[in-house]
Amino acid sequence: MTTNKRIVLSSDHAAIDLRQAIAKHVAAKGWEVVDIGPTTTESTHYPKHGEAAARMVASGDCALGIIVCGTGQGIMMAANKVKGIRCGVCHDTFSAGMIRAHNDANMLALGARVIGEGLALDVVDAFLTTDFEGGRHGLRVDMIKALDA
Ligand code: RB5
Repeated sequence: MTTNKRIVLSSDHAAIDLRQAIAKHVAAKGWEVVDIGPTTTESTHYPKHGEAAARMVASGDCALGIIVCGTGQGIMMAANKVKGIRCGVCHDTFSAGMIRAHNDANMLALGARVIGEGLALDVVDAFLTTDFEGGRHGLRVDMIKALDA
């Protein structure tokens, strides 16, 4: 997929356990994990954590990002406001593969209050092991990129 095997992880307070499980799982698959926290369950604000991870992907520092909040929705919305980010919430493996294959997503969002750890790790695997298909999908992704301008 990419020669850059750095992946950034972040979450809010609602998703620390799932984020840490994902970090361990992804590291075992050979990824260099950049886990930017938070580390305590003190209430925090998902937009800033989504933005921080998104900026590391948008800059090229990390090839991909995985972000987690209670539903996955709020942190996804924040990440997608950063230029160059294509992030989808997925709670099934089919969608997680398709956002890579057809949408060239560079970030995945998950909801820790929606999905169990076992399925979440399968969703992560589908996201990380599926390549962008290009072709006609490239034209459509270019149209999304043009919206950044
Ligand atoms: C936090 O209570 C919750 O709102 C947040 O984790 C997330 O679900 C927002 O989209």
